[in-house]
Amino acid sequence: MKILLVGSGGREHALAWKLSASPLLTKLYCAPGNAGIADIAECVPIPAMDFDGLIAFAREKKIDFAVVAPDQPLIGGLWDAFEAAGIRATGPNKAAAALEGSKGFVKDLCAEYGIPTAAYRRFAQAAPAKAFADTLGLPVVVKADGWAAGKGVIIAHTTAEAHKAIDFMFEGGFGESGHAVVVEEFMEGEEGSFFALSDGTTVLPMAGAQDHKQVFDGDKGPNTGGMGAYSPAPALTPAMEAEVMRRFIEPTAAAMRDKGMPFAGVMYLGLMFTKDGPKLVEYNCRFGDPETQVLMPRLKSDLLTVLLAMRDGMLKDVDLRWSDETALTVAMASKGYPGSYDKGQVITGLDAAAKLPGVQIFHAGTERRDGKIVASGGRVLNVTATGKDVAEAQARAYAAVDLIHWDGCFARRDIGWRALARK
Ligand code: AMP
Ligand code: GLY
Repeated sequence: MKILLVGSGGREHALAWKLSASPLLTKLYCAPGNAGIADIAECVPIPAMDFDGLIAFAREKKIDFAVVAPDQPLIGGLWDAFEAAGIRATGPNKAAAALEGSKGFVKDLCAEYGIPTAAYRRFAQAAPAKAFADTLGLPVVVKADGWAAGKGVIIAHTTAEAHKAIDFMFEGGFGESGHAVVVEEFMEGEEGSFFALSDGTTVLPMAGAQDHKQVFDGDKGPNTGGMGAYSPAPALTPAMEAEVMRRFIEPTAAAMRDKGMPFAGVMYLGLMFTKDGPKLVEYNCRFGDPETQVLMPRLKSDLLTVLLAMRDGMLKDVDLRWSDETALTVAMASKGYPGSYDKGQVITGLDAAAKLPGVQIFHAGTERRDGKIVASGGRVLNVTATGKDVAEAQARAYAAVDLIHWDGCFARRDIGWRALARK
């Protein structure tokens, strides 16, 4: 089969790596990809949001199946566009992508179907939003309703901050996504992610993971797209996974069917483990980044077969197999990230690092220039390792990190600390 993978980050490199091992694959293309993906796929310079360009390319190359990894094209309707052109693709469709595309939609769904989440209300105007925020206590959480590239959430620690956040969103601080605002109660606890696949009828549990959002050690500094992750997550015991399927994933899939918008795609559930039990933070409609970089090394089943079954409504016939090992990934970033950073620095040590036991290096923001691999993003590499437990995976990942260098590179040194602290 000829496959077109859409996207360009570490998540896509991990998916490309797993897809390239499939016996069903004859040719893998990636649009637009990066320098790491280019080692295992043919990269074509078509941006993920250029729907016409992607479809023209898929037709020309007679692509059998498109794997759409990022959130923005899914929310924008790339599945619908591919399928209308007669090209099978991984979803969800545009309607069902509301699970990630509208926070208010998800909160209303939770309320209607009894799915545990923080108390909230949804507003179209600032004054009532402020009045409600004042009743919730501090801190209080203010969210732009629409998709804001993961940036639309402000945790306000004072009443003044909350009011400022509400005004900022209604004044267009997060663009269109702030035309409606959700104000919700702050949940205290440990966060975790859980992944499941849905074909619209059958839901299939995948696995749990935990990421590290803050940029500096000890979970300090501003939030990022993710500085590291590991799977499995000790907080997601088998009993907790069963509870998460029963109280979140299955009722959500049933609710989406009920609403006439069956969800066929990756269900990525963000959870808070509060003293009152697990509660939903958010849903995403796709694989997580960097969580995919730790799920793929643990997945023993053929990813392509599984994704085809998800597209074709055949998940009832699929049984996923996982390695018992732990996988842990460390993001290496360029100085300044998540603010502005330099680009074009030459990266050294990649080959030596990749030879270490259990190590797999996924590129997140790299390019090839004059035969050399250079940094081209804020997060540049996801240095990943497997091991018999978190400690071994962590030691192996950092041994690899220590061999890699470019001017201004940095990484957190404590990825996995929560899992290790439990022991
Ligand atoms: P979201 O984009 O909804 O995942 O929110 C981004 C981050 O904000 C989450 O990963 C949490 O760390 C935090 N967050 C969102 N909602 C809440 C809440 N109600 N209580 C506490 N933290 C939250
Ligand atoms: N791990 C965060 C995200 O994929 O949105």
